[in-house]
Amino acid sequence: MPRRRLRHSIAAFCGFLCAATLPAALPSLVQAQAAVTPTDSAAAAAARQVALGEQWFRSACLECHAARGLDNADFRLKWGGRSALDLFALIRSTMPDGKPGSLTPGTYAAIVSYLMTVNGMPVGARRLSTDSSTLMSIRLAFPAKSSPTNR
Ligand code: HEC
Repeated sequence: MPRRRLRHSIAAFCGFLCAATLPAALPSLVQAQAAVTPTDSAAAAAARQVALGEQWFRSACLECHAARGLDNADFRLKWGGRSALDLFALIRSTMPDGKPGSLTPGTYAAIVSYLMTVNGMPVGARRLSTDSSTLMSIRLAFPAKSSPTNR
C-alpha cells in the first residue's frame, strides 16, 4: 500500500473510533457530575447541557469567579424567586466581564443551567431553552440549605 493511502486509512479509522467512543463516554461523565440517571433522551440532553455549561464556566468564567464562586448563599439569596430569564439576561449582557455577549445564546443557557444545578436545583426534565418567554416562566428556587454535594 502506498504511504499516502496508509496514512489516509489510519485517519479514517481514528475518525470512526472517536465517533464511536465519544457518545459512549459522555453519559457516564454527565452522571458523575450531575448525579442523575437520565431516563429519556430529553432528560439526558438536559444533563449534557449542564455538563457543557460547567465546561464553559471553567473556560470563560472561572478565572474571575474562582475565589468566591457563584454557588454560595449570597447568590441564592439574591437570585432565588427571580426568573431564569433574569439570570440569563444579566449574564448575557454583562459577562464575561469585558466581553459581554461574546458567547452563543445556547452557551449562555448551558451556563445558566449549570449555575442552577450547582445551587441545588435538580437537573431539568429537558434542556433549558434560550427562548425569552420560556425562560421567564422558569422560577429560580433554591433549597434553603444546600446539601454537601452542592456545596
Ligand atoms: C474578567 C472577569 C470576569 C469574567 C471572565 C466573568 N465575570 Fe462575572 N463578574 C465579574 C465581576 C467583577 C462581577 C461583579 C462583582 C460581583 O458581583 O461579583 C461579576 C458578576 C457576575 C454575576 C453577578 C453575581 C451576583 O451575585 O449576582 C454573575 C451571575 C456572573 N458574573 C456570571 C459570570 C459568568 C456566567 C461568566 C462566564 C460567562 C462570567 N461571569 C465571567 C467578573 C467576571
